[in-house]
Amino acid sequence: MKNFEVNSLFPVPFYTSEVELDLEDIRKRIEKLARYQEGLNDSNGYIYPKNEQLFGRKEFSDVKNEAKKHVDRFMREVLKYDYDDSFFACSWFNINEPGSHHHRHYHPNSIISGVIFITNPHNSGHLLFNSPHQRDIILEQKKGSVDTPFSSGIFSPRQEVGCIALFPSWLEHAVSKNLSDENRLTIAFNVFVKGHIGSSHTLTYCEVGG
Ligand SMILES: [Fe+2]
Repeated sequence: MKNFEVNSLFPVPFYTSEVELDLEDIRKRIEKLARYQEGLNDSNGYIYPKNEQLFGRKEFSDVKNEAKKHVDRFMREVLKYDYDDSFFACSWFNINEPGSHHHRHYHPNSIISGVIFITNPHNSGHLLFNSPHQRDIILEQKKGSVDTPFSSGIFSPRQEVGCIALFPSWLEHAVSKNLSDENRLTIAFNVFVKGHIGSSHTLTYCEVGG
């Protein structure tokens, strides 16, 4: 057999782009909010608000609008989803203090999740995604061997300051330990759709408010 081809079956869509935002100003707004906000969760230096609707705050409307632009582009142009509108079910800031990390998790009650990297000091931790096929990987790769999308169980995307990443909410991820002496700041959000979706003809019709 001289030639062969390999197809990627059922790939997981992962979107990244750059945001047009004043990141330094956003950093100040987050730190101000964190200083005065009550009811913050603190899990060993990983700090995030409870039930926060960050995008419901007027001072974060620029971030909301920018995030929505990317969300709708991803869902309509890449995933080809047909829906009336999207909305942010939750939106919040994360502060990873030195020494903190965030355990492996996913985001229920959400279709698309996203993160915007506001600050990312050197060695302050990485967002790591776990392959849903991780348990199916038969041969463990040796250290230093070349990773491919078919053999790697973990993916760490480009996460430069000013980038946005969007992914299906069911995809498990974690944040590695912040080994720097500075805080790492991100904004995260969950997205759902609203309006009329599906069809009564196929028994999939659903009307969602938002
Ligand atoms: Fe998360």
